[in-house]
Amino acid sequence: MAGIAALVSKVVEGHHHDRDMLIQVLLDLQSGLGWLPREALVEVSRQLRVPVTRVYQVASYYKAFSFAPKGRHTIKVCLGTACHVRGAGRVVEKMETDLGIKRTETTPDLKYTLETVNCVGCCALGPMVMIDGKYHGQISSDKVSPLLAEHE
Ligand code: FES
Repeated sequence: MAGIAALVSKVVEGHHHDRDMLIQVLLDLQSGLGWLPREALVEVSRQLRVPVTRVYQVASYYKAFSFAPKGRHTIKVCLGTACHVRGAGRVVEKMETDLGIKRTETTPDLKYTLETVNCVGCCALGPMVMIDGKYHGQISSDKVSPLLAEHE
């Protein structure tokens, strides 16, 4: 708790306690912590003198913010139409089996977070999988295990 309060203090001071910088403060905390724990949001509310409901409202609105810890590797499987017709559903199911989690979840060892997205603009190369921002095309379910093994 003390560590989080100190980090929030540093970030809030960096933005001169300006409550108009709420989103930037949250972005900095998300970047520093990898997610936004409840304690951090309460501290932001206290230190910026913004109602905690407002802090939650802003943090909930933007997809960039996460209320749960993220894994070291973020896996995004495209389930857009073009990828879907090429078997992306089987790819994500194989990911779920191999990782032992469902989409949107993070493995207990905080190694992987599994997400789905809708079209990343490379439809001709589908099914597309992004791992830590790197694109992998033409991924079939039998390529999933070797792909994961590359990101141990
Ligand atoms: S539908 Fe997957 S990249 Fe377009």
